[in-house]
Amino acid sequence: HIRALIFDLDGVVTQTAKLHAAAWKKMFDEFLQNATQNTGKSQAPFNIENDYPRYLDGISRTEGIRNFLASRNLKIPLGKPEDTFENQTIWGLGNQKNAYYQEIMRQGVDVYEDTVAWIKQKRAEGFRIAIISASKNCREVLRIAGLETLFEVQLDGIEAENRLLKTKPEPDIFLEAAKALNVQTTEAAVFEDARAGVQAGKAGKFGLVVGVNRKDASAGKELLELGADLVITQFPADE
Ligand code: G6P
Ligand code: MG
Repeated sequence: HIRALIFDLDGVVTQTAKLHAAAWKKMFDEFLQNATQNTGKSQAPFNIENDYPRYLDGISRTEGIRNFLASRNLKIPLGKPEDTFENQTIWGLGNQKNAYYQEIMRQGVDVYEDTVAWIKQKRAEGFRIAIISASKNCREVLRIAGLETLFEVQLDGIEAENRLLKTKPEPDIFLEAAKALNVQTTEAAVFEDARAGVQAGKAGKFGLVVGVNRKDASAGKELLELGADLVITQFPADE
């Protein structure tokens, strides 16, 4: 039976998935405009509805950039951590996107009140509860949202990098969270809005993989097709 709950951050607990998507679009549209000028081959702008969930959502910064560029048959060097946009490297693009993201996120973070209320209730009932995120901004987002004490275990993109965990759709970060909560994967439920996250939950053989879809029905269907046991549009599950 389920006695632990593992939540994704962006798009499940806080309303930050759309802030990430907006920052990705701003940076990539500048990049694609440059690419069009430099190669003479016209590049369509970044599409938030398609490119974000498919190539970036739930995935580490550098791997997400690689995925998106590969989808356009574009390749740039990895570069160095201190690179800027002008270097036209993966690190440089990532730093630019992160600057745009932090600029919006630091103006304030909205939480999903339904998720937070449900987590508090489950915690009072004795469930072990963790938050995981591919994002290196996880800690700051939780602080700004006032949620830094809500979770027993926190694992984010910084720890994932330090511990050499593979990014979703690999199950590594969820497995690490289950270990930290001291439960079997079959005893834990995973809550995810990202396609790569649902795939990761499935790959880790978790007891329950819940897709969280607050948008349109078609996005929810995608999560079911990727193996989510159920898809909810709000907490608690509206089955
Ligand atoms: C989450 C978001 C993605 C973001 C990734 C890395 O999975 O859904 O949009 O790209 O984290 O975030 P970071 O803040 O480290 O760039
Ligand atoms: Mg998410």
